[in-house]
Amino acid sequence: MSWCYRHLLRPVLFAQNAEQVHNRTMGALAWASRHGLVSDAIGSFFGAPAAPIELFGLKFPNPVGLAAGMDKHANALPIWPALGFGFSELGAVTWHPQPGNPEPRIFRVIEDEAIINRMGFNNPGAQALAQTLAQWRARGRWPGHPVGINLGKSKITELEKAAEDYANAFRCLQSYADFFVINVSSPNTPNLRKLQDKSALDGILGAVQELQEKHLAPPGVPKPILVKVAPDLSFEALDEILELVPTRKIAGIVATNTTIARPETNDPIRQRLYAEPGGLSGRPLRQRSTEVIRHLYRQTRGALPIIGVGGIFDAADAWEKIIAGASLVQIYTSLVYEGPGVVRTIVAGLLERLEEAGLNRLSQAVGLAANERGAIGKPAH
Ligand SMILES: Cc1cc2nc3c(=O)[nH]c(=O)nc-3n(C[C@H](O)[C@H](O)[C@H](O)COP(=O)(O)O)c2cc1C
Repeated sequence: MSWCYRHLLRPVLFAQNAEQVHNRTMGALAWASRHGLVSDAIGSFFGAPAAPIELFGLKFPNPVGLAAGMDKHANALPIWPALGFGFSELGAVTWHPQPGNPEPRIFRVIEDEAIINRMGFNNPGAQALAQTLAQWRARGRWPGHPVGINLGKSKITELEKAAEDYANAFRCLQSYADFFVINVSSPNTPNLRKLQDKSALDGILGAVQELQEKHLAPPGVPKPILVKVAPDLSFEALDEILELVPTRKIAGIVATNTTIARPETNDPIRQRLYAEPGGLSGRPLRQRSTEVIRHLYRQTRGALPIIGVGGIFDAADAWEKIIAGASLVQIYTSLVYEGPGVVRTIVAGLLERLEEAGLNRLSQAVGLAANERGAIGKPAH
C-alpha cells in the first residue's frame, strides 16, 4: 500500500496545490466518517494492531496519535481510529472563528520530506466545533479512542487577554474531549509564543484550572491539561515551564510544535522554499524534537508524561521518541508523505521492537535511552 501511495497516488496529489489537496482529502474523509460501512471497510484495511497503553487514566489502543492541525473542524472525527490512530487531537481551535492567513500558506519541501505552514489557526471557533462534536455524539459516531482538543489564542484577542480567551474556548468544549492541549507554540499567530513565558503561561493555566475546579461545566471530572512547546525554546526556557507543573497541575507536555529554524542547503529550490515564513515540520524536525523530549524526561525524572511529535515517519523514528521519554507519539507530515498505511506500519514495527528488546509493554520502553550520556536520575518506567 505504502509503495502504491508513494509511487502512484502521491505524484498526482503533489502536482496539485497543497491546501486544495488537503481540503479535498478532508472532504472525502468527512464523507467516509458519515457512513459506517465505509468507515468499517477503511478500518479493515488500515486498522492497526493492538498495542495498548494507559495514560492520564485513559486507555489508548496504541500509542500513535493524529497531531493537531489536520482536523480543525472535527469533520472526520470517526475516521481516525479506522486509519489506525490510537488517539486524535482536534484543532487548533480558538474562541473566535477566524480565517487564518492569506493563501498560499502550505508549502511542500519534497526533497526533505518536510512541510512549511503558516495557516494561522484557520478554524470555525470553539462554539461551532462544540456543535459538530455534539452531532457526532448524537449520531453514535464518537470514536473508540481518546480525543484531545488543541486550544489556540484568537488573533483578535490581545496578548494581555489571552487567559480569558483560552478559558472561554475551554469552558465551551470541556465536556467534549478527554484531554486538552494549551498551544502556545505555533509560530503563525503574532506573538503567540511569548505566552510560553512562565508568567503568561501561569495566567492561562490558572484561568483554565479555575474553571475545572469550580466545575462550571459538566461533567465534574477534571480533564488532563497538557502544554505544547516549541522546539526553538532553550532548555532553560523549557525548565521554567516545568516549574509550573506542580502548581498548575500540568498533566503532560506535547513536544514539539513546528520550528522556525531551517536546515542549511545550497540547493536554490530548497533555499527559496525555506525562505517562506512559517513553521517547518517533517524529517528536518525529528532530531531537535527528540532532544527536547529527552531533556524534558531527564529533568522530570520520567514523572511527567510526554507526547512526542516531530518528524516521525516509521517505527524507528517512533521508537527513538519513546526511548527518549515519550509515552505517546503523534504524526502529521508523514501521513502526507507516506499515505494512510503509515500508522499501521509504525504500530506493527513498534511491537516488533518491543519483542526484540524483550519487553512486554510499551510503557516499559519509555525513557530507556534518556539517561545515556550525562544522565540524571533513573527512568521511572
Ligand atoms: C499544516 C499544518 C498545520 C498545523 N496546525 C497545528 C495546529 O493548529 N496546532 C498545533 O498545535 N500544531 C499544529 N501543527 C503542528 C503539528 O501538530 C506537529 O506538531 C508538527 O507538524 C510536527 O509533527 P510532524 O513532523 O509529524 O508533522 C500543524 C502542522 C502542519 C503541517
